[in-house]
Amino acid sequence: MHRTNCVLMSVLLMITDGLIVKGPSGPLVAPLGSSVVLPCSVDQLLSVKGLEVEWRRNDSDTLVHLFQDGESRTEAQQQDYQDRAHFFTEEIQRGNFSLHLDDLRSEDEGRYTCTVYIQEESGETVVEIKVDGVGEY
Ligand SMILES: *[C@@H]1O[C@H](CO)[C@@H](O)[C@H](O)[C@H]1NC(C)=O
Ligand SMILES: *[C@@H]1O[C@H](CO)[C@@H](O)[C@H](O)[C@H]1NC(C)=O
Repeated sequence: MHRTNCVLMSVLLMITDGLIVKGPSGPLVAPLGSSVVLPCSVDQLLSVKGLEVEWRRNDSDTLVHLFQDGESRTEAQQQDYQDRAHFFTEEIQRGNFSLHLDDLRSEDEGRYTCTVYIQEESGETVVEIKVDGVGEY
């Protein structure tokens, strides 16, 4: 009996560690005022049940976008991002949590973390944005 529990535990731990969240291979460079897509996806998503996706700025911990209980929680979002940051709603069920950010500003430069929770599993990826034309004048 103890042995079975032990094996079961190890299997669960392996699963818990196993969520691979994919992001871009390098920093994204985009001009001021343009739109960028911050990639974040998982290979397979069996169900949106228990799914939570959080996009945060790494430097300030600002919440850029939150998806919880089957919908985007715009009220929890930092105001500055409310109108500018969107998910591709129809892509979510395909495990694609890429974020569309409009009207890029110089203060958007930095690192963003996309954290995905699927029931007991979680994983994250970091996306770096560089705004072209900043600091050149
Ligand atoms: C977030 O930023 C801090 C300080 O800039 C850095 O030490 C840390 O490694 C970053 N984390 C990630 C996941 O990039
Ligand atoms: C996610 O969706 C966006 C918008 O449709 C698309 O540009 C991107 O390629 C998709 N990423 C993946 C991994 O399917």
